[in-house]
Amino acid sequence: MTAENWDPEWWRSGVVYQIYPRSFADSNGDGIGDLPGIIDHLDHLAHETGLGVDALWLSPIYPSPGLDGGYDVSDHTAVDPLLGTMADFERLVAEAHRRGIRVILDLVLNHTSDVHAWFVDSRSSRDNPHANWFIWRDPAGYDDEGRPKPPNNWLSFFGGSAWAWDPTRRQFYLHTFLPQQPDLNWREPAVHEAQWEVVRGWRDKGVDGFRLDVFNALLKSSTFESNPQGRRFARRPWDRQKHLFDKDQRDLVALLEEFRAILDEVPGAFSVGELFEGTTAQGAAYTRPGHLVFDFDLLARTWDAREFAEEIADREKEFGPDRWPTVVLSNHDQSRQVSRYLRHLDKHDGDTHDRVAKAAAVLLLTLRGTPFLYYGEEIGLPDVKIGKAETVDPPARRASWTFPWWNRDQCRSPMPWTGAPGAGFTTGRPWLPLAPDARTRNVAAEAGDPRSVMAAYCGLLALRRRLRAISHGSLRLLTMGEHNVLAYERDAEGQRLLVVVNFALRQRRWSLPTGTWRPLFDSLAVDASTDGDARLSVELRLNGLQAVVLEEVAPS
Ligand code: GLC
Repeated sequence: MTAENWDPEWWRSGVVYQIYPRSFADSNGDGIGDLPGIIDHLDHLAHETGLGVDALWLSPIYPSPGLDGGYDVSDHTAVDPLLGTMADFERLVAEAHRRGIRVILDLVLNHTSDVHAWFVDSRSSRDNPHANWFIWRDPAGYDDEGRPKPPNNWLSFFGGSAWAWDPTRRQFYLHTFLPQQPDLNWREPAVHEAQWEVVRGWRDKGVDGFRLDVFNALLKSSTFESNPQGRRFARRPWDRQKHLFDKDQRDLVALLEEFRAILDEVPGAFSVGELFEGTTAQGAAYTRPGHLVFDFDLLARTWDAREFAEEIADREKEFGPDRWPTVVLSNHDQSRQVSRYLRHLDKHDGDTHDRVAKAAAVLLLTLRGTPFLYYGEEIGLPDVKIGKAETVDPPARRASWTFPWWNRDQCRSPMPWTGAPGAGFTTGRPWLPLAPDARTRNVAAEAGDPRSVMAAYCGLLALRRRLRAISHGSLRLLTMGEHNVLAYERDAEGQRLLVVVNFALRQRRWSLPTGTWRPLFDSLAVDASTDGDARLSVELRLNGLQAVVLEEVAPS
């Protein structure tokens, strides 16, 4: 397959695999994952030799001081020497394309690193060529001790005020994240030109699309009004404000159109925006063909059939038949799904671990929308506990009872490939600790086990490719999660599928809709599930945490 004959609608039927490059595979023994490491493992992702995903999304690969895991970019046009060279990147694109896998880059347009040349220039005076490229404001006044007061009450998501004082310019600059991540001024036309140049550059190198980091924060209100009071007693300071003025501005849609126009020159070019602190309804409103949105309401639900049913109903209502959602259960910012669900079940044995990982895989890969699979979830990789002393995640280092923060290092642990020391990830010392069970839970071990979590992922991915009802069909909820069982139908072109997931630890009976049904996938008997002659009608008996996909058999 070559890029030229790819289905331009692939983003609807395809599956995207997220790689956190520092944690995927280390080729040179420095303990940090890199681009050649990714190339070495492309067969794990490819259709003929592995999982069979359609695209990979790389978290930022650009030069960066690494204060926010690469989301503090010091040059958007180059490759971080820690991860490799531009030649490595070009080889990665070619090798991925050769295997039918598209490459999606992470675009951090909202802010740069404070060592980016643009910001270094911008902060040097009030009248340099980049003076207006960042958001500079005069103080609101001075306190009794002569200290400058910030221009308004806007907050940094990573704690404290969003304004940092610069003694040279004697002005504040805005940083929605770390003080070392100043926000770009998207009301300055030169910023558009410079960033669109970056987009064209990568596009012309053969990149197939982009994930837009915190895209809905790009524009702030030009009035700089303080945000009104939010939930007064919310645990996070961030939630104690209504974010009316520091994100989601009306003219954002026009800005996104400018960006899309560049992508639309290439058929099938794709983008997905990370909705920063928003709801399903907001996510749906920003979605358009070729441009999807991550909203995290589904991810926020606990392991409970009612919770999932409510959220699925909400998604169906907000997206309607014409807009296409994403399905995300884990990423590099959140506790991994298997760990979250096990915490909720309060059971941590290996059997429950695998069952819940497989049942979650059924949801991820059969709900309506484009699934995003986070590296490691295909082997049921859990969060890895990390002590304060070893913590790298900057907001986690400043976490306290007044600033609650989940340590994101826990979901960024190195990928275990084999049972060898270093887990086949590195021959050196890994930059973050390996999972304690890496010797037994790793890609090599699971590849040889037909009942592994990975076997379930492979089976489900193959089923998805084969059945348009899963990849394109409509979705109809059949239960609202009564007795902790969730069931929905997926239909397309006369094909009718039923997905039934038992969220409970105990056995459950569930009445089948009229008709005769044939099991296509069973999460607890992965190896023997697909082609049996079994026929089911009337009632389904599901073991604890069992999930099945059934197909209606045409009446003979
Ligand atoms: C996004 C990224 C997160 C990063 C933040 C600031 O939310 O996913 O990892 O810290 O943006 O760039």
